[in-house]
Amino acid sequence: MPWSHARIPDQSGRIALVTGASRGIGLETARVLASRGAHVILACRSTERAREAASSIGGSTRAVRLDLASLESVRRAADEVRRRYGRLDLLVNNAGVMLPPYRRTADGFEVHFGVNHLGHFALTGLLLDLLTVAPGSRIVTVASLAHRAGPGGFDTKRARSATGWRSVAAYGRSKLANLLFARALQRRLAAAGTETVSLAAHPGLSTTGLWHGDLPALLRPMASAGLRWLAQPVDAAALPSLRAATDPAVPGGTYLGPAQLFESRGSPVPARSSRVSRDVAAQERLWELSEELTGVRYGFGPGSGDGPVVGGCPVTGVGG
Ligand SMILES: NC(=O)c1ccc[n+]([C@@H]2O[C@H](COP(=O)([O-])OP(=O)(O)OC[C@H]3O[C@@H](n4cnc5c(N)ncnc54)[C@H](OP(=O)(O)O)[C@@H]3O)[C@@H](O)[C@H]2O)c1
Repeated sequence: MPWSHARIPDQSGRIALVTGASRGIGLETARVLASRGAHVILACRSTERAREAASSIGGSTRAVRLDLASLESVRRAADEVRRRYGRLDLLVNNAGVMLPPYRRTADGFEVHFGVNHLGHFALTGLLLDLLTVAPGSRIVTVASLAHRAGPGGFDTKRARSATGWRSVAAYGRSKLANLLFARALQRRLAAAGTETVSLAAHPGLSTTGLWHGDLPALLRPMASAGLRWLAQPVDAAALPSLRAATDPAVPGGTYLGPAQLFESRGSPVPARSSRVSRDVAAQERLWELSEELTGVRYGFGPGSGDGPVVGGCPVTGVGG
């Protein structure tokens, strides 16, 4: 039987944080988790939009300001979550930008790489100790079919430079980074013996704001025509994230996406991914670069067996 909303288990007592919950797939993910009883932290760059989202969702929610284009904002958001909560059961790294004109984040990173990957890398690292103390906690990172359009070759120069920049390749590279990160993280969590798992998901195609806001005018008619045939409604597009977040039968390291029409729509199943996304050496190179660029060090290696260390202090209470 295809996996659907009806299969989402009761989430009462769980604390979830969803990035980019102001609209689109993030809002839908937050809405469903709250409707199943989770307390949901809506981490959004606009507090006003987060509050509007919270009142449209109902249930138990809290708005937290998070601008992934600023590492300072990421640190402040993580501090706020840490002050208010002793643990986190679920982190959904969902927020994203697609094809804006070239611009840099507050820290000087190319915007796709900075927001879609580095911001989430930093946030996850800063919240890791809250996650590892929560039994059965999950980290879900939202990637895309577009990861296949992402050339590898991550380095300090490409992380910032406008030279040779192409928006489609930059978006693809950031989504490839999401997958490489989710897999490297899972390897580390497993090696450290934690119960926390890392998974990835992609929504297929859905006509959200992603296709309207930043898309170059030339691409818009093409996108609308293609989407009319291939896209699925946002409630279906959120299902891969929701399954990764809540289905205990799906193990860490799994990448979920829609089953039909070249993975553009349908119920969530294990998805295919490019060879480079499965390349352990590429995952490790990106990990090192991300630690260097963000200054957030997770403190545990890919197979060291060491427990995670945050801010120089070993995390206690790690299960497993
Ligand atoms: N829709 C699709 O067809 C599709 C396909 C493949 C993958 N995806 C992935 O799905 C995820 C959700 O996309 P969506 O379709 O729901 O797009 P969306 O409707 O455009 O929503 C994007 C969300 O990300 C937030 N965001 C953007 N920049 C941010 C920043 N600097 N800091 C914090 N939040 C920021 C937006 O907040 P604001 O409201 O403040 O702008 C919004 O809440 C993304 O990771 C995207 O790459 C989508």
